[in-house]
Amino acid sequence: MPKVALRDSLLRRPRRLRRSGALRNLVRETRLDPGGFVAPLFVRSGRGIREPIPTLPGQMRFSPDELGREIDDLQALGIQAVLLFGIPERKDPEASGAYADDGIVQDAVRMVRRWHPSMVVMTDVCLCAYTDHGHCGVVTDGRIDNDASLELLATTAVSHVAAGADVVAPSAMMDGQVGAIRDALDASRFDETAIMAYSAKYASSFYGPFRDASGSAPQFGDRRSYQMDPPNVREALREIALDVGEGADIVMVKPALTYLDVISAARAAVTLPLAAYWVSGEYAMVKAAVAAGWLDERRATMEVLTAIKRAGADVIITYAAADAARWLGEEAT
Ligand code: PBG
Repeated sequence: MPKVALRDSLLRRPRRLRRSGALRNLVRETRLDPGGFVAPLFVRSGRGIREPIPTLPGQMRFSPDELGREIDDLQALGIQAVLLFGIPERKDPEASGAYADDGIVQDAVRMVRRWHPSMVVMTDVCLCAYTDHGHCGVVTDGRIDNDASLELLATTAVSHVAAGADVVAPSAMMDGQVGAIRDALDASRFDETAIMAYSAKYASSFYGPFRDASGSAPQFGDRRSYQMDPPNVREALREIALDVGEGADIVMVKPALTYLDVISAARAAVTLPLAAYWVSGEYAMVKAAVAAGWLDERRATMEVLTAIKRAGADVIITYAAADAARWLGEEAT
């Protein structure tokens, strides 16, 4: 090859900035921080219970007292927010366990509030774990009744906040749910409580392990009449715009890894904080491949979380929050 041509093409050498760990770190465009993680936690009734969830390796169902211990560990790792999911003892058509004053989430929130005052306590607001049919709204004549569900969702949100929740996260994908909850919170003088809206929540196969964990699988049909159709991205922007208009404080895209393009489009479309949920099945895929010896857990997990952040998420909801925070701490030392 003639010498001059070689020089021309090699004037710019991107490899110069990849020569050492320190140089790579210096020019890194995306950094993870445990302060932006939310750890999802499952809570059930009882005492002294830490029940491993087979479909979600590393995750447990905690009784409220054990939840406190877990949150101690999370706080020590720099995690400042948890998202609580309740597993009730009884289910009925009206989802009464969702908004009972002595419901499992309400009890857990009071416990966390008392012992961990600085932890941001978020609660998932949905009916699917509390209805005997497993749908996210009430059923009238075999159909998921949007407007009849709004009042129950709003009542649920108010009861979570009355117990001490800082942020409520409506995930039922009922039209108008954010506005209904905002109105109900304001009417109860909870005007300072934020709403993190599951705005673009897709009807995904990747929620399977979560439904095992919380016993919330639908007993008939599926969720495609209310959760979003996976091929759509413009519709996600419409959902997000509606939630912003109804008073959402944080909007969310879910799942995360299989919807990075939606995260990126949402980032360009809104100025509100954007959350993304690396859901149960996406996490379980990595865990299964790690168990088979096919992937390196630390590298695969950090690569996924970095990709979600790079796509534009400010807040990452992840079952790997504790592991990732620990690994970030090790890098820093
Ligand atoms: C409740 C809810 C679900 C998830 C979060 N909130 C399940 C569903 O919609 O079926 C999924 C979370 C996960 O898979 O990690 N509606």
